[in-house]
Amino acid sequence: MKLHVDENLCQGHGRCYAVAPDLLEPDDEGFVTIKGSSIDVPAGQEEFAHRARNACPEDAITVSD
Ligand code: F3S
Repeated sequence: MKLHVDENLCQGHGRCYAVAPDLLEPDDEGFVTIKGSSIDVPAGQEEFAHRARNACPEDAITVSD
């Protein structure tokens, strides 16, 4: 599973790393650190990847198999 953050949509709301703290972290300005890139979701973190996607009000996060 992969999680991607669209750098053009992320506005730094911070809900994604709040609901998935073991998967995502903030940078110094409050944007998610992987803004503009993708990560491989580790085993056991799939539910949190979906929670992060659902939490983003900008629909900046996509999850794919
Ligand atoms: Fe950005 Fe959405 Fe997270 S706006 S910081 S990806 S909640």
